[in-house]
Formats: sequence, C-alpha cells, structure tokens
Amino acid sequence: MSPPNAAPASSREHESVALAPPQPSFEVLPAWQDEDPERIRDLQDEIRDLARQKCAIILAHNYQLPRVQEVADSLGDSLALSMTARDASAERIVFCGVHFMAESAKIVNPAKKVLLPNLAAGCALADSISAESLEDWKDRYPGYTVVTYINSSAEVKALSDICCTSANAVSVVRNVPSRRILFTPDKNLGNWVKKQVPEKDIAVYDGCCPTHDVLRSASVEKVKRLLPDAVIIAHPECREDVLEMAQEICSTSGMFDAVKRHPEARTFIVATEWAQVYRLQQVYPEKEFVMADGCIGCRLHCPYMKMIDLPQVKRSLEEDVFEIRVPEAIARGARRALERMLEVPRDR
Ligand code: 13P
Ligand code: SF4
Repeated sequence: MSPPNAAPASSREHESVALAPPQPSFEVLPAWQDEDPERIRDLQDEIRDLARQKCAIILAHNYQLPRVQEVADSLGDSLALSMTARDASAERIVFCGVHFMAESAKIVNPAKKVLLPNLAAGCALADSISAESLEDWKDRYPGYTVVTYINSSAEVKALSDICCTSANAVSVVRNVPSRRILFTPDKNLGNWVKKQVPEKDIAVYDGCCPTHDVLRSASVEKVKRLLPDAVIIAHPECREDVLEMAQEICSTSGMFDAVKRHPEARTFIVATEWAQVYRLQQVYPEKEFVMADGCIGCRLHCPYMKMIDLPQVKRSLEEDVFEIRVPEAIARGARRALERMLEVPRDR
C-alpha cells in the first residue's frame, strides 16, 4: 500500500518521465525477430533451393524484414532494383518490395515472370495519384514536363514524360530540356528538388508518404539534444522542417555512402523507415544508428513493406504467385518514362 502522503501514481509516473527522458533506442527489432531461429534458417534454406530450381532471382528493398533481406540475391533502393530487374537473365524475378516496384520491374523486363509475394504490398504515396488526378493537374499546368516519382502506378507513369527515384530526382529535373516542370506525386521530394534546382519553374503535386510525413523536427530535435554530435541523415520524402536539420539527404542506398562521408562521426540519427536503420547497423557495426523519431520506430514503419515474410516468399516460388501483368498499351508509355529515368545517373 502507498504511504498516506505519497503522490498519486499518475503524477509520480509523470515526474519520472520528466526526470529521465526516453533514450532513443532500437527496441523495435526484437518484436520482429522470430523466437525460433532454427525454423527461420530452415525456411531460408528451402527458399534458396526453390529459387535455384525455379531459375528465380530474389530482389529485396532495403525496408524489407531483415530475414527476407537475408534470402535476397540483390538488395537496394528503387533505382538499383529497377536496374537489376532490367538486366536480370533469370526466368523469374521474385520482388520483395511493394507493388509499384514489381510493376516497374515487369515493365523494364517484360519477357520475365515477375512475382510479388503479397498483393497487399501497396504504397500510400503511389495511391495518392491516379490517371484522372494527374490529367486534372496537367490541365492546370499545360505545357509542363511531367516528372513522376517511381512510387506511382503504371497508368500514371504512362501519362508522364520521365520518371525519377529519390536517388536521381535532382539530376532528372535538371537535365530535362524544359524549364517548366510538374513534379508528381510526392510534395516533400518535389519541394526539396525545387530548392536544389531554383532555375526551373516547378509545380508540385500534393501527395506524400505517411510513414515519412508524420515525422516532425520537434521529435528529431529531442533526439539531437540527447546526441549532439550525431549526424542526421534523412530520406527526401521527409517534410521540409526535418530536411532542414539533416546534413545528408539521400535515397535508402545513398545512405550507405553518406555514412562514409563522415568518418569522424560515431552516431547517426536516421530519418526513414526502421528496417533501413537495421541494415545500416549491420553494414557498420562499429557505428551507432538511432531512429529519428526518438521512439521505437512506431512512426517510422511502412506497413506495406512488411506484408512480405518468408512463408509468402516460399509460396510465391512454389506456386508462381502473384504474377504482375501490365497491359502493353499502358506498359509502352510507362516503359518510355522509366527507360529515360534509367539513363540518368545517381545524384551522388
Ligand atoms: P528509395 O528508392 O530511396 O529506396 O525509396 C523508396 C521508398 O519507397 C521510400 O519510402
Ligand atoms: Fe510507399 Fe512510404 Fe512505404 Fe515508401 S515508405 S513504400 S513511399 S508508403
């Protein structure tokens, strides 16, 4: 029982929070680690065998579950994975990522069977634009060259002049001959590109990625106060207030090189999805990577990227599901926009 003059439990809890601010941590990972590592290893071995038998290549995005990343033949960001898919000679491409990535793979390498292990793996940002809404924006900006982020459907790509990814958005916009650009669908990436290319007149569509857009500079500042020497790395899908705090702004794969540019730094605050933080920690075990929300990654979690786990990858190989098909009438225009994108080198 509490002593008679003790403060009520709720106010004591409040006091203890005020005295000991939560430390930024990486505690989210145990929730995703399986209790039975042997079962995981067995499943991974079965997947590798099946992939060999089926002449399949497994591609995985940097945001995939760590155990899915471990069975991938190739890991990367949207640009690297599109290039790998285009050049793949295997009969099947099992794409562990989200729908627009698998669809882009099919478009750039139509002769291959492209499989997405779970059709529920969509993308909220890609869903924020449709062929109809893009037509409306094109009517509002006649004569503008349409630059569309790869996070979009094949229909939207087909109505665009050129695509880009977070790895080459600045170079794409700088290199298109037109001075007037309609950038779709991500407003945070678009506004950041606009600042890098002030000589162009850039209209920006109003879509965003909820996983990144939820992050506020106030949260990042709390983490920075606890780790004043840390270098902040952010994905350009973050809001402007967060990007203004960052020393490095780059695609998920670009973040690996960004770490190398700061050999003196031991700690990095990372403003993007938590699985990327896990990957960085694996590649640089001597460094410390902390999620920018100063939390357990609950706000920096892409539910779509976590729709694929090992059982889905195994089923995908066993049953050839779920095959991505794009009608040629749409694929033709989307391919032109993607191929133009693939010609533009990375920004760094
Ligand atoms: P990257 O191309 O940088 O990997 O980003 C893809 C993505 O969906 C980020 O949310
Ligand atoms: Fe789409 Fe955002 Fe998830 Fe990337 S993090 S796949 S942009 S919802």
